[in-house]
Amino acid sequence: MIPKSGDGVAGGLERPRVIVNVAISADGKLSTRERRQVKISGSADFSRVDRLKAECDAIMVGIGTVLADDPSLTIKSPTLIAGRIAGGREEHPVRVVVDSRARTPVSASVLTTGTGIRVIAVSSAADPERVRALGEKAVIIQAGDDKVSLPLLLNQLAVMGVRRLMVEGGGRLIWSLFEEDLVDEMSTFVGNMIIGGADAPTPADGTGFVLEDAFVRLKLEEVEHLDQGVLLRWSVLRT
Ligand SMILES: NC(=O)c1ccc[n+]([C@@H]2O[C@H](COP(=O)([O-])OP(=O)(O)OC[C@H]3O[C@@H](n4cnc5c(N)ncnc54)[C@H](OP(=O)(O)O)[C@@H]3O)[C@@H](O)[C@H]2O)c1
Repeated sequence: MIPKSGDGVAGGLERPRVIVNVAISADGKLSTRERRQVKISGSADFSRVDRLKAECDAIMVGIGTVLADDPSLTIKSPTLIAGRIAGGREEHPVRVVVDSRARTPVSASVLTTGTGIRVIAVSSAADPERVRALGEKAVIIQAGDDKVSLPLLLNQLAVMGVRRLMVEGGGRLIWSLFEEDLVDEMSTFVGNMIIGGADAPTPADGTGFVLEDAFVRLKLEEVEHLDQGVLLRWSVLRT
């Protein structure tokens, strides 16, 4: 059984429990080489992801995903929303965009759809004018000089009360989280199609590990036949 509490530590700093959720094609792609969003799973997986969102305090994506897919990151089921409200929580989890240079459009769905707190995480490289404009719609967390420092960001989210953080992509953000040993669980839905393309995004892009000793090791916790594919639930092994 995967623990549900927020029990992570990043470089000695408190952090939320980090749960990565992705849908990939049977050949391991997140989307097409043009980074166009594709429907990989079906209605059963859609409901599962909505439930997972509702169980989390925050949902995080990278700016690449905001620019490619324009997700709202809101919970869709009225029943799940009602359950959160009955439990004294906001309708939607805190929505977080990792965006070093403050490129999130002020018209992005994540900023304009639904109620609740939004966080834009920027680095010191961000244009102050863009940061000011986004600051009218979101809490701004500045962490890091060039890229956003993920350990610092996660610590700030923990300070805000985020104990369970769901990460919805994309491949570059997820890679950095694995590289920095900040992931606790991963759910991978594997869909029944081949997308192909050496340049199509995969769940952990970036430079990749070279030495086998550096590989992140996982424990397979659960396998479930879902829609026309399979759901794999992994936990991250730490020695
Ligand atoms: N199938 C699925 O489940 C799924 C889910 C989500 C997304 N997707 C797909 O994934 C693709 C987008 O993925 P992506 O890799 O291009 O973008 P991404 O991972 O969403 O965002 C990456 C960007 O985040 C910013 N960033 C800031 N600090 C960072 C850090 N410490 N580490 C990593 N990134 C940092 C960087 O841009 P700056 O330097 O400008 O800050 C970086 O280029 C789209 O095609 C989308 O459709 C698929």
